[in-house]
Amino acid sequence: MPQSSHPSGGAPVAKVRHFLQMSDFSAEEYAYLFERTKIIKDRFKRYELYHPLRDRTLAMVFQKNSTRTRVSFEAGMGQLGGSAIFLTSEASQISRGEPIEDLSRVLSRMVDVVMIRTFKQSMVERFAEYSRVPVINGLTDEHHPCQILADIFTYIEQRGPIKGKIVTWVGDAVNMLNSWMQAAKILGFTVHASTPPGYPIDAQLLAECGDSVRVFEDPLEAARGSHLVTTDVWTSMGFEAETEVRKKAFADWCVDEEMMALADPSALFMHCLPAHRGEEVSAGVIDGPQSVVWDEAENRLHAQKALLEYLVVGEVKS
Ligand code: CP
Ligand code: NVA
Repeated sequence: MPQSSHPSGGAPVAKVRHFLQMSDFSAEEYAYLFERTKIIKDRFKRYELYHPLRDRTLAMVFQKNSTRTRVSFEAGMGQLGGSAIFLTSEASQISRGEPIEDLSRVLSRMVDVVMIRTFKQSMVERFAEYSRVPVINGLTDEHHPCQILADIFTYIEQRGPIKGKIVTWVGDAVNMLNSWMQAAKILGFTVHASTPPGYPIDAQLLAECGDSVRVFEDPLEAARGSHLVTTDVWTSMGFEAETEVRKKAFADWCVDEEMMALADPSALFMHCLPAHRGEEVSAGVIDGPQSVVWDEAENRLHAQKALLEYLVVGEVKS
């Protein structure tokens, strides 16, 4: 339901919804968000004014670099009638050691929703624990739920329901894979994952996902019959010191034309970007006919606008 007063007033809010990982929402909520994403996207394409977040403010805390996440959240808030504030560690008191709990208490008395991009998932969880307003994970070492929200919307937009389909993950056992795995369990598709020796998938998450995830030693086998092949950089933010070692370890985990040929003829290719052509993906695949990476990137904007609307004003009918 729409809030009638800012949660900074009165007693602490008992139940604030956050989006910290895919498992925070139900299949029904995702169905609603994908419907809203389409409505909001169509309105945007017609340049129809839609300002459900008029006078509302988003604070964005970035402790890692970003292009897409920053622009899509900042532009999205403006398009919904609100505004966004960009904070970094260096330009704020975070770098002087202000406790996360204090940052959360302060920001959540001034703004209506907070997005955080940081290292450890435990940081966003601690922040959320003390926040009076919704908190969104804009990427941690462990999860990248906003990206998967946009990716699944993109799949549905291009090919219809994702339920029952196979999504192949080729590459690092990283945030993106973890979020795909959680989504598979909730939304009823299967992830075929192949990571190089020495880069194992999180065992606890794997156990939680059960039959929704199948692990393959051979990346080509993982791609066989797949409806969506996806990958990510070999070296994620925060792991730069390992770049040279990783280049050797990941050499065979490249999505190329040979791999795409084993997938279902309808298969799409996705990449959260930024990409390294000639490393995790060949130029022929990312710039080829099966690639939907530009739609995928654009859909960050639309999917996150639906997410912001849902978290700040609740379910809407119009
Ligand atoms: N895919 C993604 O999150 O991109 P940025 O790092 O540019 O935000
Ligand atoms: N796995 C990558 C995703 C970047 C959007 C990283 O964490 O750097």
